[in-house]
Amino acid sequence: MREKIVAGNWKMNNDLAETEELLGKLKLQMVKDPEATVMVAPSFTNLYPTFQALKDTPVIVAAQNMHESEKGAFTGEVSAEMLKSVGVTTVILGHSERRAYFHETNELLAKKVQTAIDKEMTVIFCFGEELEDRKNDRHFDLVESQLKESLFNLPKSAWKNIILAYEPVWAIGTGETASPEQAQEMHKHIRTLLEKNIGKEVAENTSILYGGSVKPNNAKEIFAKEDVDGGLIGGASLNAVDFVEIVNSF
Ligand code: G3H
Repeated sequence: MREKIVAGNWKMNNDLAETEELLGKLKLQMVKDPEATVMVAPSFTNLYPTFQALKDTPVIVAAQNMHESEKGAFTGEVSAEMLKSVGVTTVILGHSERRAYFHETNELLAKKVQTAIDKEMTVIFCFGEELEDRKNDRHFDLVESQLKESLFNLPKSAWKNIILAYEPVWAIGTGETASPEQAQEMHKHIRTLLEKNIGKEVAENTSILYGGSVKPNNAKEIFAKEDVDGGLIGGASLNAVDFVEIVNSF
């Protein structure tokens, strides 16, 4: 059974005090048993305090990135074991900002995903086309190559730990959302690719989230689409009222 998931990606926002304030508000406002699994992804420095603050709640804490190597001379990087040592077993990989500003390629992401799977972590794998790709009607092929080059070599057994997050780059932080129909069309395409390349069971059981300017006023419509299993929320996840409203949009 596919899981419904709403994940907040806090990106490079919030120092410790601001993180504690947001966590306090979230704990107050979150309903006890939301229909969706809720995740939040703070910066590295705030992972441990967030994990501590949420450990008596069902909210899962995720990291926004990790290095593909086990350990060693990689100044400034964080490993899977380091994340696990502070209670974090979920990691976002392949976000378009990592691809664009830190030159993460499909090939590098394949290595990161492999490391995360080897370490028994859950991966929220992000991918999606840029505006040019969509304008030139290349979006379906582009998404196919992103998935193929980073994920389709994984064994079937790895897929229970993979969550997909389709994020059209042109909709991230721009206020421009893919229409619910555009999201559904791409999510259906993704599920068809999963079925063709991995198998029916994986296609039916993998959660596919939509990300890109999801707000309280459009979440319901997007989440109602058949192949959309939730959202990866950026800007709106920094506001507890908005985030909780999105969580309650199922
Ligand atoms: O990771 C989240 C996405 O980049 C979406 O961000 O909701 O601010 O558009 P946004």
